[in-house]
Amino acid sequence: MKNCLAFITLITLFFASCSQKPKPTFTAADITLIPKPLQLELGESSFEVTSTTAIVLEGDSPKKAADYLVGLFKTAANFNLELQNTLAKEAIFFTTEEGLNEGAYKLKVNPTSIHITASEETGFFNAVQTIRQLLPKAIESKKVIDVAWYIPSISIEDEPRFKWRGMHMDFSRHFFKVDEVKSFLDYMALYKMNTYHMHLTDDQGWRMEIKKYPLLTEKGAWRLPNNQDSICNTRAVENELFKIDESNFKEVDGERKYGGFFTQEEIKEIVAYAGDRNITVIPEIDMPGHFKSAIDNYTYLSCNEDSGWDTVFTYPACLGKETTYEFMKNILSEVVEIFPSKYIHIGGDEVNIKSWEKCPHCQKAIKEYGLADEHELQSHFNRDIEQFLHSKGKKLMGWDEIVEGGLTKEATIMWWRGWRPDALKKAAENGNDVVISTTDAYYFDYLNEGNPLEKIYGYEPIPESFTKEQSENVMGIQANLWSEWIPNFKRLQYQAFPRMLAVAENGWAPQKGKDFEGFNARVEKQYDRLDVLNVHYYIPAVKGLDKEIMIVDSTLVPLELAYPLEGVEIFYTLDGSVPTQKSLKYEKPFSVKDTMIIKARAYRNDIFNDIKTVKVVKSEYVDAAAVDIKEKGFRRYVLKGKYKEVDNIKTWTNNKWEKVDSVDVADFVDEKNFNLVYTGYFYADKDDVYEFETRSDGGDHLYIADKLVVDNGGWHGPRKRFGKIALRKGWHPIVLKYRPSDKPRVIEVKYAVQGEELVPLKTQATGF
Ligand code: ACM
Ligand code: ZN
Repeated sequence: MKNCLAFITLITLFFASCSQKPKPTFTAADITLIPKPLQLELGESSFEVTSTTAIVLEGDSPKKAADYLVGLFKTAANFNLELQNTLAKEAIFFTTEEGLNEGAYKLKVNPTSIHITASEETGFFNAVQTIRQLLPKAIESKKVIDVAWYIPSISIEDEPRFKWRGMHMDFSRHFFKVDEVKSFLDYMALYKMNTYHMHLTDDQGWRMEIKKYPLLTEKGAWRLPNNQDSICNTRAVENELFKIDESNFKEVDGERKYGGFFTQEEIKEIVAYAGDRNITVIPEIDMPGHFKSAIDNYTYLSCNEDSGWDTVFTYPACLGKETTYEFMKNILSEVVEIFPSKYIHIGGDEVNIKSWEKCPHCQKAIKEYGLADEHELQSHFNRDIEQFLHSKGKKLMGWDEIVEGGLTKEATIMWWRGWRPDALKKAAENGNDVVISTTDAYYFDYLNEGNPLEKIYGYEPIPESFTKEQSENVMGIQANLWSEWIPNFKRLQYQAFPRMLAVAENGWAPQKGKDFEGFNARVEKQYDRLDVLNVHYYIPAVKGLDKEIMIVDSTLVPLELAYPLEGVEIFYTLDGSVPTQKSLKYEKPFSVKDTMIIKARAYRNDIFNDIKTVKVVKSEYVDAAAVDIKEKGFRRYVLKGKYKEVDNIKTWTNNKWEKVDSVDVADFVDEKNFNLVYTGYFYADKDDVYEFETRSDGGDHLYIADKLVVDNGGWHGPRKRFGKIALRKGWHPIVLKYRPSDKPRVIEVKYAVQGEELVPLKTQATGF
């Protein structure tokens, strides 16, 4: 009887397995992991997670990762996967192996089991995120979805390059709530980012409850609508991504105010949520500058009890008064209790030290402590705060300005000023740990067009000049999301994605072997997953509408995407209205023959980008001059003196000129008190609209046939301006006036037929 039963069971199992669908085999193109693993080998077939898949653990260190995996399947599949510590068939095994680096893991998937190996919890957690990305995108769903949960057979060995793979959010300029923070932490976890920097205080609002100083949040968390809000409101007329989150307004003291803050309980909730996702939360309390929201309510903190804006920055806390030191330490005493992180960020950036120059308390402190200047006063303050943090078992971190007055070896620097590599060098030479968070690549509040994906991906955070030891002090990288122009969570997503994926990969994968095309192909596959996560990512901008279009009769307007992306379409309008998916769909260049406004925007399903707007201006041809050109070149006049405006340069028609072949300032780099005027003729090859572009410091004006075509006036550093004019074939008089600034000096002129590539204006096309 026993044998008979066993036989029946075997037969049943045989038929059951025969009736099962074969498990799919995946191809390399299906594996779109970001960040890219160190080593990966794809096998045949796959593992299917079902409601009965067991999860087998030994010890505590895989628990967090296993819980996370269980949670994913509970939400998306309604599976109640069980953790067990005995052997099982068709299981996911978590095994501890000593000797793997922090964050490192091994993952082996075959049709009957999954083996995850790591030496500590972050390694296990990273492995689970790899599994998450190998699963169908439905695993991100908040609703139960009925799909087969296949994971490709694969063998991966992986570990991170850097230990700090960070993202930052600014809660002060515009505020984001606990649920939004949690969503953001989920995105970070997916891409194995592990450090979340919360900029909690700034001039525009104090965002963390401090029990000893209740006014910080009772009043300091609320402000009247400001200039940045007005600009957001203007942009929001056309672009809902600029709508200020209405739920952050409330009536305070009888006025409608913007703001919000986290109670200490909410912060604990965020810290715990992040902790479950292997993410350390770093708090920033920015001091002694960017401190207006505190000084407004505790005015004894400033040098002369004033609070507000000086020319560029706000009045800082006074560093000559003992009360300031006490105040900061009382705040930090509460901060260190709530944030378990080793690092406490104290800002230190952009301090208006002019206040200290005039303050008797500050000057007295400088004398008393034998300090050289106000930078050293800030440094003295930092050291005092640092000692205090050490007494609480914490380390001080600050923006790179804190290197200026000197600092201890223990402080950690966040280098942000791309234009001040000397600050990074100084920190490196001093032996400080650094995190690279530079404006040159990692400022995500900058538009995508300014800091695009490819630039970020290509950015190598360790300067070539760094010694081996200095390189080892680079703890990692971080991207920042300053929120002056980010008034809601959708806009934050738009600024963060897909660029955050480049930071994730740069923070993880070694520099050697990086390849943008391969990365970008994987990014493109991530968009569908981001759709399930309800992320409003950036899609390529519409190109072709960057400059005013001039027409005489009509012209064809070609549009294109800044880079191709599957599923993205362009829609446009010709009546000034906001383009929607019901507007004209761009198929091919279209003709315009009147003055009008063109607006265009790209869509990928419901995801849209910022609108591009251009004016079409109807004009008439300027007739050619009846001149007989004998010689090529320009007349260059040098005029001495200082002019308030470029256009004040009027009297160049003396005989003191020389003939030159091109427009440049090379002969005058060290000259003082001079201005240049070039005159000559421009030759138009055919009747057409011509574009001219000047690049100059100081200011310049370019006239053709007495018309001001390029207005690059004012008083500025090197910058470009352009203008257009319709010219009949032939010679046209040209005048360029240039009033230099101090340095660097530059004057260049380029031209092209409208729509073609600009080339330098040289002798060949000119004459007099
Ligand atoms: C900064 O952007 N002020 C650190
Ligand atoms: Zn002072």
